[in-house]
Amino acid sequence: MFSPEGPTLRELAVQALSSVDRGYDLLAPAFDHTPFRTPDRFLDATAAALAPLGPFDAGLDLCCGTGAGLRVLAPLCRKRLTGVDFSAGMLALAAAALPPAGGPRPQWVRADARALPFAGAFDLVVSFGAFGHFLPAERPGLFAQVHRALRPGGLFAFPIGAPPPITSPWYWAMAGFDGAMRVRNALWRPPFVMYYRTFPFSAVRDDLAAAGFDVALDALDALDEVGRREDGSPRAGLVLARRA
Ligand SMILES: C[S@@+](CC[C@H](N)C(=O)[O-])C[C@H]1O[C@@H](n2cnc3c(N)ncnc32)[C@H](O)[C@@H]1O
Repeated sequence: MFSPEGPTLRELAVQALSSVDRGYDLLAPAFDHTPFRTPDRFLDATAAALAPLGPFDAGLDLCCGTGAGLRVLAPLCRKRLTGVDFSAGMLALAAAALPPAGGPRPQWVRADARALPFAGAFDLVVSFGAFGHFLPAERPGLFAQVHRALRPGGLFAFPIGAPPPITSPWYWAMAGFDGAMRVRNALWRPPFVMYYRTFPFSAVRDDLAAAGFDVALDALDALDEVGRREDGSPRAGLVLARRA
């Protein structure tokens, strides 16, 4: 599927019938050849939007997978680069990749994002493509963990997709995927939590504020570089949540 190096349909099915961490362990060798890896143009747009807010000393890529977020952190962070993920398979791939030239050597930490082993350690936390793995009820706890991992004044930044209009095929594709996952999770153990439509900006902003973040209100205009829809509205934005 996706490309000759990507996973086969059978491999994807086996992954989807596993737990999230085991599923990613299985997918890891082929992950960079799937659309699930955040594309470079998206990462570069994020780095460009964050550059005027830096430089930073220590950066964390939350749910780092094979290390895509390093492309954002490396040019922005002077002293420390860390990636955290709970899939040992994904982390092994991240560690095997060539580190970015000239910057600090990245450290890879295996941990659950809902129980991070960090306190006041970072002034920038980024995350890409992973929030669909958290149920809405888990969000306050997740954001509290990030808040604790940041130094006072530190920044939590992540892209968020604008919801497609109901007339768009994407709307129905995402609704169909989420529906299929709900059926799968009702019938099969362990669950594989992955939903596209459980991370709306308004609820995310409220949960961030409740966790102690100041959230930038104009954030959804910040990623113009990744393109606009035919009606001119942005496809995605950048949430900027600062630890108060
Ligand atoms: C779609 S991948 C995204 C990887 C990478 N950030 C990227 O953009 O290419 C989602 C990643 O989140 C990780 N993940 C999901 N739930 C997690 C949790 N509770 N704690 C730590 N990592 C988690 C998975 O192991 C996987 O590597």
